[in-house]
Amino acid sequence: MCGIVGYVGEKQALSVVVDGLRRLEYRGYDSAGVAVVSDGSLETRKKAGKLANLESLLGEDPLPQSTIGIGHTRWATHGGPTDANAHPHVSEDGKVAVIHNGIIENFAELRAELSSRGVTLRSETDTEVVAHLLAETLPSTNMNLAEAMRIVCRQLSGAFTLVAVHCDVPDVVVGARRNSPLVVGRGDGENFLASDVAAFIAHTRHAVELGQDQVVELRSESITVTDFDGQPAPTVEYEVTWDASAAEKGGYETFMAKEIAEQPKAVADTLLGRVDAQGQLKLDEMRLSEEQLREIDKVVVIACGTAYHAGMVAKYALEHWTRVPCEVELASEFRYRDPVVGPRTLVVAISQSGETMDTLMAMRYAREQGAKVLAICNTQGSTIPRESDAVLYTHAGPEVAVASTKAFLTQIVATFLVSLYVAQVRQTMSQADIDAVVRELSDMPGKVDLVLDTTEEMKALADELKDSRSVLFIGRHVGFPVALEGALKLKELAYMHAEGFAAGELKHGPIALLEDGLPVIVVVPPPGGGAIVHEKIVSNIQEVRARGARTIVIAEEGDDAVIPYADHLIRVPACPALLQPLVATVPLQVFAAAMSAAKGHDVDQPRNLAKSVTVE
Ligand code: F6R
Repeated sequence: MCGIVGYVGEKQALSVVVDGLRRLEYRGYDSAGVAVVSDGSLETRKKAGKLANLESLLGEDPLPQSTIGIGHTRWATHGGPTDANAHPHVSEDGKVAVIHNGIIENFAELRAELSSRGVTLRSETDTEVVAHLLAETLPSTNMNLAEAMRIVCRQLSGAFTLVAVHCDVPDVVVGARRNSPLVVGRGDGENFLASDVAAFIAHTRHAVELGQDQVVELRSESITVTDFDGQPAPTVEYEVTWDASAAEKGGYETFMAKEIAEQPKAVADTLLGRVDAQGQLKLDEMRLSEEQLREIDKVVVIACGTAYHAGMVAKYALEHWTRVPCEVELASEFRYRDPVVGPRTLVVAISQSGETMDTLMAMRYAREQGAKVLAICNTQGSTIPRESDAVLYTHAGPEVAVASTKAFLTQIVATFLVSLYVAQVRQTMSQADIDAVVRELSDMPGKVDLVLDTTEEMKALADELKDSRSVLFIGRHVGFPVALEGALKLKELAYMHAEGFAAGELKHGPIALLEDGLPVIVVVPPPGGGAIVHEKIVSNIQEVRARGARTIVIAEEGDDAVIPYADHLIRVPACPALLQPLVATVPLQVFAAAMSAAKGHDVDQPRNLAKSVTVE
C-alpha cells in the first residue's frame, strides 16, 4: 500500500527512484509520481495508472539530470486515483515536494486553516497540506528541512510516512515516520529511503530501522535520526539476508507462480535451526521464558486475511498439543469489542508484512491490557515484531505477489513450532510424540514439492471452470480454514464469487446455493486423522453431488472412499491430519492463479488490493 522511495548520492536519481518504485509495485497502487531537485529548482511528474504511464510521460517530458529525488506509488484513500491526486504534492511556491503513506486524520482542519491563510489547495488529498505547511515553516528554521518536518509532524495526527525534498536545500532528503513503514538503506556515498528494503536491495543490503515518531535527514554521506522533538534517536542497523534476485521473477511468468514453487524451500527454511541434535525444539530467539510460557492460561491469535486462516489452522494444533485454550480473531474486530485479555494471555500476532495496521493496532491494544505478544512475521525490522515482546520469523523470503502463498505455509509451520515448544515446556506431550511430529514436519518440504505436480491438472481445471459464476469450497477440521483460504484466493485473483464453509454447516443454510453444475471443491481430511471426520465429509460430498454440484475432491493418495463421488479427483501426498493444510492448500493457490490468468487478469497485482495494508 503506497510505495515510497528517496535517494541522494551520485547516481542518476530518476533511474534509482523509478527502479525502486518498480520493485515496490507489488504493494498495490493506482498512480505514480516522482520529483527531482536540479540546479536549484524542483521538478515533478505524476500520472494516474501504472508505472508505465508515468514512464511514457517522462519520455514525452523528460526531467533534468539530478542526484537527489523521491518517488511514490499511491493507493488511493483521500481522493480518487487521478493525476492531480497522485504524489508528489508541491507547495504553492513550487519549492517543496512531499510524498506520503498513511492517513492524516486531522487534514480537514489543517486544510481549512491553510485556506483561511489564503493557500490554494489543488488536490483532494490529505497529503497536500504537508507540502504547504513545510513551505510555511522552513524559513523560520534557518532553512533546516528536518527541523521543519519535525515541527509539521507535531501538528499531525494519524498514520504517516512522509518524505520531502526542497529546492533551496538541494542536498537533503527528509523522512518522517509514525505507524507507517519507512526504512533507510545505507550505501557508500549514497543513501536511500523506502517503504521496504526491496526498493534499494539492488544497491545495498545495509538497512537502518526507523522507530515510531522519528525524523531522518539523509545526505549522501550521512544519516541523522531524531525524534519529533529533535533529540537524537537510537536506531537499529541490520543486514538484509536476501539479495535482489530473490525479489525477481527468475524465469517464472508471474511472481505468484515463483512463490508457489518456492514453498518447499520456504517450509524447510522456516524449520531450519529450530530443533537441536537431541530433537529438542530451540526457540530462544523468541525471547519468551519457559516460566512465562508456563503461566499462560489462554492464547489469542490475531491476524487478517490469509494470516488469519493460518491462525485458524494453528488453533487445532495448539489446543490438541498443549491443552491451552486458543481463540482466533480478526485483528480488525479484536480491539473494538472489549476482549478479555490480561497478563496470562499470550497474543500471537501473525503478519507476513509486519505492517498491517489492523494487526498492529490490535496487538498494541493487547499489550496495553498486559498481555504478552508474540509476533510471527516474515519481514525483519518491520513494526509488528519490533513492538512485540517476542518474535518468531518465518523464513519465506520476500513475497512479492499480492496474493499470499508461501507466507501462509510458513505461518502454519511457525505456529506449529511454537505450539510444540509450549507442549515441550508444559509437558503436555511426551518427548517421543514431539519428536514424531518434528519428523513429520521435516518430511513436509518433500511433500509440498510432490504436490506441485498437480499444477498442470489444476490449470486445466481452471480452464474448464473459468466461466463459472461461483465456486464453493468446503472442508472439515483443518480443511475448513483451507477451504476459506481457497475461496479467498479465488475472490482476490479471479474476481469471482467464491465462499468457503465448514462442510458440516452446509445444511444449515449454504446448501440452498447448490445448483446444477456449480463447482464445489472439497478438502477431504486424511482417513487416518479421524475416521468419523472422514466419513462425515464423504457424506457431505454425496449431499452436494445429489443436488447437481460438480465435485472437485482434494484427497490424499490411497483414499479410495471418495472415488465414486468425485467428478475431479486431485491427489495430495498422505500426511498427518494436522499437517495436511501444507499440501492441500497448494493446488488451490495454483487454481486461483490459473483462473485469474484464464480471465486475463493481472495475477500478481489484482485490482483494488495492496500487499501491505497500512491503513485501518
Ligand atoms: C491474501 C492476502 C491478505 C493478507 C492480509 C494480512 O492473499 O495476502 O489477506 O494475508 O492482508 O497481511 P499480513 O500477513 O502482511 O499482515
